[in-house]
Amino acid sequence: RIIPVLLSGGTGSRLWPLSRETYPKQLLSLLGEKTLLQQTALRVNDPAMFGGMMVVANAEHRFAVAEQLRGAGVINPTIVLEPFGQNTAPAVALAALVAHESDPDAIILAMPVDHWVGDAAAFRKAVNVGMTAAQAGQFVLFGLRPTSPATGFGYIRASNELAAAPGVHQVAGFVEKPDLPTAERLLATSDHLWNSGIFLLPVRLLIEELSRLAPDILAACRAALAGATRDLDFLRLDEAAFRACPSVSLDYAVMEKTDSAAVVPADFNWSDIGSWSALWEMGNKDSSGNVAIGDVVMEDASGCYVRGEGPLVAALGVDDLIITATPDVVLVASKDRDQDVAKLVGRLKASG
Ligand code: GDD
Ligand code: MG
Repeated sequence: RIIPVLLSGGTGSRLWPLSRETYPKQLLSLLGEKTLLQQTALRVNDPAMFGGMMVVANAEHRFAVAEQLRGAGVINPTIVLEPFGQNTAPAVALAALVAHESDPDAIILAMPVDHWVGDAAAFRKAVNVGMTAAQAGQFVLFGLRPTSPATGFGYIRASNELAAAPGVHQVAGFVEKPDLPTAERLLATSDHLWNSGIFLLPVRLLIEELSRLAPDILAACRAALAGATRDLDFLRLDEAAFRACPSVSLDYAVMEKTDSAAVVPADFNWSDIGSWSALWEMGNKDSSGNVAIGDVVMEDASGCYVRGEGPLVAALGVDDLIITATPDVVLVASKDRDQDVAKLVGRLKASG
């Protein structure tokens, strides 16, 4: 059975002021009743296919994470607690090392917790298609057909289908977060897919490739686990050892360099809900294209995303705005500038 690994380290700063460092977006109910973390856990709740869940999360969020997993019916998860994020290569390496200890042949499914997947059955089917290749010793990525020249994603170039694994293709190359002209060019080709950031990984192979391509990450993660303390479901890393770990994404550290990467072109109605306009796109719109959530009243407004969580928000005669009110912060932004919300947060941080 596959071991799901939920990567819950991000802070979601583009969804400020709703998403905060102390309570990031994956712990919020942004779409529907369940939080994004819970929705991700429920996506892999088929016991015929998946076994004991792991979560790698920031230590500060441990109680919310544990509570939400309980709420989603997850039994005895292993929750690895990072004192701070060091990006996805260390987070995945930690999970691989823990899984390897009980089963060197284990295969893990590393998943971001801040994505929307509309079709869970299609998702599990894609994972099953990838299993043949993973069992034969490949890293398996999941690629989605691009629908816009997005610059916030990585692109995977798929080539020939593997003879031994129908539905799985060789990876011919990666382009991580291209600029707009490049993204437009990639969109026009037929062989470039969006990298979903979901990985099916044989842990033995991953540890081998880490020792070859990123030995310092592997060593630091081993040391952080050797010095870890266990309480309840939590595995608390040795902070000093983890501090010495380089902060690199799994894409850069391993996937772009290995010869063992393959990709499943999939279609499971996927969306990265990274920013306000993504939530607007997915939301239920009124006849003027407005999404209103919470305490909101609007007149002659169009194309707006308005969210009132605290004060009543009243909007009149405005177009294409993001307005999000929380008890202590109100954000007003032009919808096409929503990628820059993180910049605002950065400035606030810098000024204390
Ligand atoms: N535990 C842990 N620790 N999780 C982390 C850390 C960390 O230090 N850093 C990131 N994560 C989690 C995030 O919470 C998210 O769920 C996932 O790992 C991916 O990290 P992002 O920081 O969101 O990556 P990205 O969006 O810039 O890029 C990746 O995902 C894209 C798709 O959403 C890449 O794989 C791209 O190629 C891909 O297109
Ligand atoms: Mg992301």
